[in-house]
Amino acid sequence: MPPSIIAIDGPAGAGKTVIGLWLADYLRYTFFDTGVLYRASAWLALTNSVAIDDADAIVALIERATIDVDSPQPSDAERGYTVTIDGHAVTDSLFTAEVNASVSPVAAHSAVRAALLPVQRRIGARGSVVMVGRDVGTTVLPDAELKIYLDASIDERARRRWEQEHRRGGTRTIEAVRADVAHRDALDTGRGSSPLRVADDAHRVDTDDLSLDDEKKAILDLVTMSRG
Ligand code: C5P
Repeated sequence: MPPSIIAIDGPAGAGKTVIGLWLADYLRYTFFDTGVLYRASAWLALTNSVAIDDADAIVALIERATIDVDSPQPSDAERGYTVTIDGHAVTDSLFTAEVNASVSPVAAHSAVRAALLPVQRRIGARGSVVMVGRDVGTTVLPDAELKIYLDASIDERARRRWEQEHRRGGTRTIEAVRADVAHRDALDTGRGSSPLRVADDAHRVDTDDLSLDDEKKAILDLVTMSRG
């Protein structure tokens, strides 16, 4: 049997979503990107004109909203899932420059993290899940049978994000994307509550010099090695 719960953590642009979606599809598991919960929280704050530093007001918005992640509608096919908030599909709105700039400060609030934890644990408890994020292996599902920490250099991650943005019509320069990724790295690793770090029992996969096929092979080797 493959491990029932697989946690994939790592910094922005390391390729967690691409590899996580592929692995979940391969194993017929549920894929869950925990980043969308933090993005949805930032989006709720922005659309309700709530200040990014007002943790209590953001938690109130989270508790009033129904955030769902479902199979992709046709327009979200490339992303692999559709996020709805109170029944409205909002996936693309979660990946705007405004949300990118606000998400890490929102995610740094311990009250916001505490509000989103039960949602993530409920999904994890169902098993047969590939869950990706920053603190899945360290905090959300510390008993996950397989923990992978996907990494790549800042230049490589910026290049991948820039390519992704340009495919979707984005116009930012690679320098601007790199600065954004570096800023989010600093906030995600430097925050007091559940910072991004490699879990003691995680397998680190550095993807700088790996093709996507090599990366898939490395991940499958880890899955096979972790079989019960
Ligand atoms: O993975 P993605 O880039 O969509 O995540 C957006 C942001 O959400 C991250 O930069 C981080 O600040 C936050 N996040 C987090 N914990 C997670 C997943 C995402 O703090 N488990």
